[in-house]
Amino acid sequence: MLSEEVIRELKEIVGDEYVVTDPADLYVYGFDASIHHRDADVVVRPHSTEEVSRIVKLANRRKIPIMPRGAGTALAGQAVPVDGGIVIDLQEMNKVLDIRVEDLYVIVQPGVVYAELNKILKPYGFFFPPTPGSASVCTIGGMVAVNASGMRALKYGATRDYVMALEVVLPTGEVVRMGTRTIKNSSGYQLEKLFVGSEGTLGVITEVTLRLQPLPPERAVTIAAFRTLKEAGQGVSNIIADGYLPSALEIMDDVCIDAVNKHKNAGLPQCAGILIVEVEGHKEVVEEDLKRVARILKESGAFQVEYTRDPEEMARIWSARSAVLPALSSYGETFVSVSLADDMSVPISKVADAVVAYREIAKKYGFVIGIYGHAGDGNLHTKFLLDPKSEEHWKMAEKAVGEIYDVTLKLGGTVSGEHGIAITKAPYMKKERASVLPLMKKIKEVIDPNNIMNPRKMAYWENGIIQYLRYPVGRK
Ligand code: LAC
Ligand code: ZN
Repeated sequence: MLSEEVIRELKEIVGDEYVVTDPADLYVYGFDASIHHRDADVVVRPHSTEEVSRIVKLANRRKIPIMPRGAGTALAGQAVPVDGGIVIDLQEMNKVLDIRVEDLYVIVQPGVVYAELNKILKPYGFFFPPTPGSASVCTIGGMVAVNASGMRALKYGATRDYVMALEVVLPTGEVVRMGTRTIKNSSGYQLEKLFVGSEGTLGVITEVTLRLQPLPPERAVTIAAFRTLKEAGQGVSNIIADGYLPSALEIMDDVCIDAVNKHKNAGLPQCAGILIVEVEGHKEVVEEDLKRVARILKESGAFQVEYTRDPEEMARIWSARSAVLPALSSYGETFVSVSLADDMSVPISKVADAVVAYREIAKKYGFVIGIYGHAGDGNLHTKFLLDPKSEEHWKMAEKAVGEIYDVTLKLGGTVSGEHGIAITKAPYMKKERASVLPLMKKIKEVIDPNNIMNPRKMAYWENGIIQYLRYPVGRK
């Protein structure tokens, strides 16, 4: 618990109504979208960089942990305040500060919502492309903090590829600006890129300059249905090996298809696996590319290939795809879907091997899992369906998860393609990155000597990941 004096000082900085101390609110602020939870001690909702700087100075002086937070859509526990302290909710800092399409950038505060930004950019004919599943709610600051991406990363890259400059409040409270507003920059260490994916462990991001891309004139979406998931996986690498780079190339297995069909009446073909392929460009290019994609998909074994160019129909398909996560959450009656081995990435040609291996591991432990994801860039999601009250289930799931990561690493992959490390993936990052962890630790110590910034996240979690659970394990 924090002292009355600290609460009073925080109220002086941001104003009484922007300091949250009500226990019910603190309980809610203890969640993100991961399996973890811990009540927040206090939440502050600053409006300016200056306020953030004063909060951080106060925390640093008193060695109080700080956790910056956006919309709380993190899937690995980034926004769960495990060591208590001050949660800084950045959603009040939600202004688009400058739109400079002629210079290919936009400057935003961290609390701007991804989809809102793209709505604002649309009339200019530009967009910020990564397209995360949580597009309608997630914030730009949160996206930068975990190097988020999503459906359009295959062609356009992840958030890191778009961060030109950042304003950051360092753990000392000092405000620094990193990067440039030029397209190119060879002027020293690119520290702005270091802060991308730092998950709130190095400082508080208070302003972001993002590169923009022009919107394509037209888009179309193809859905291909397969009799086996392996064939669908093979279809992915066949498209890429043909020399074609779609703007999105998604995979969904039978469990995910069934879940969204039930949850949203989505009408997706019920089969072992589907691929959703987006093509874009001028009208004639789209027509040609649709034919090319259909040919490759059929050669890969698709028994049904259908396309649409109708914007409403495309929006319906994408909203069905984005609904996989919530749909799986309400899929079973006693079982819930949990994010464990959540966002592995493998080389594209290994997608077919990976999906088959994941399914087999789950089967061995008696789990139903949903497999889906951004197969075009090798980034796959698995969601475990388990009884969250059963300790036994959690123990078995942890074993299965370890095997999923082992196979991922063996295939030349990474334990996290887009959701980051925080708690849920920390032991596995250790396996993957053993040789660079000492350097990462040194960087953390230099920038944050008092270890106040989101402490223990991305660190080792030697006792496993089944900790600070949001579920009443063991209770009937
Ligand atoms: C998605 C999130 C989970 O792709 O990354 O839906
Ligand atoms: Zn995703």
